[in-house]
Amino acid sequence: MRIGVLTGGGDCPGLNAVIRGVVRKGIGQYGHEFVGFRDGWRGPLDGDSVPLTIASVRGILPRGGTILGSSRTNPFSIEGGVGRIEACLDEQGIEALIAIGGEDTLGVAKRLNDSGIPVVGVPKTIDNDLNATDYTFGFDTAVGIAMEAIDRLHTTAESHHRALVVEVMGRHAGWIALHAGIAGGANVILIPERPFRIDEVAAYVTRRFETKYACIVVVAEGAQPADGDMSLVTGERDAFGHVRLGGIGQRLAEEIEARTGKEARAVVLGHVQRGGTPTAFDRVLATRFGVHAIDAVHEQDWGVMVALRGTDIIRVPLEEATRQLKTVPDERLAEAEVFFG
Ligand code: F6P
Repeated sequence: MRIGVLTGGGDCPGLNAVIRGVVRKGIGQYGHEFVGFRDGWRGPLDGDSVPLTIASVRGILPRGGTILGSSRTNPFSIEGGVGRIEACLDEQGIEALIAIGGEDTLGVAKRLNDSGIPVVGVPKTIDNDLNATDYTFGFDTAVGIAMEAIDRLHTTAESHHRALVVEVMGRHAGWIALHAGIAGGANVILIPERPFRIDEVAAYVTRRFETKYACIVVVAEGAQPADGDMSLVTGERDAFGHVRLGGIGQRLAEEIEARTGKEARAVVLGHVQRGGTPTAFDRVLATRFGVHAIDAVHEQDWGVMVALRGTDIIRVPLEEATRQLKTVPDERLAEAEVFFG
């Protein structure tokens, strides 16, 4: 079989490990042929592809990013987009696609599969917010980076008796903030799932300083105040309609300083969380996803996504994977709240 592989959406440590797993097993054990489409769905839209061979995937396991490039292109928001993809696959003799991506990329994969293009999905996102899989690769790496930053910020916050606000990624789900905050011993964790009250945050900060310690607040970029009076978006939207977030950390630091009288500064970790080499956990998970995804293609089990359930890799319908986001339940935040203030 001749199979196309693409990586879409925000990049994520571990993408190359998936590509390597797919290609090594696909060629080595099944004798399939591969092409890589460049920059997510833009590749098959524009017929932009490169051959993927065992030689071309050598040495990529520890590399962050994706050798194929990525984009947030949405073929369903482009006039004649699906037809262009069909024509490209016909022309290049591609019989199946492996789409590695988050909710948006997999949402497109599902719709294309429904329209007759054979697709298998692989879940990817540092946000860990995809339903139907216990973990996505990239998350462990992002949490490790954020935790290390928090560790470092503790010592400088103590030295200067400051509150430091650390803004991490997480638009709709606060998994990175929750895990990095617990692992790094944050004094307040604010997530999109639970609108926060600024007076409560200020009280936690004050209490922390009363015990002669400085305060670290971890805030997810999508966290919102309960009274909704902080305007946080630039108004810009991507092809899937997501607004570009950013700025909550700075706004929060200003409010904390005004309400507590303590100096407060903001640190935005941003894309540092997505860059660089994946952790061992993410390399193993991504590799396992890759070798199981090519099994699904080999068995012509279309319209499924590989997923982690416990320690097993299973297959779930793409439909199930993209139906709703996996958000942080209240009881998980309650575990972290024990350490607030
Ligand atoms: O979905 C992954 C993610 O890193 C989110 O956490 C974040 O909101 C978004 O991508 C940022 O996207 P971009 O890199 O396009 O600004």
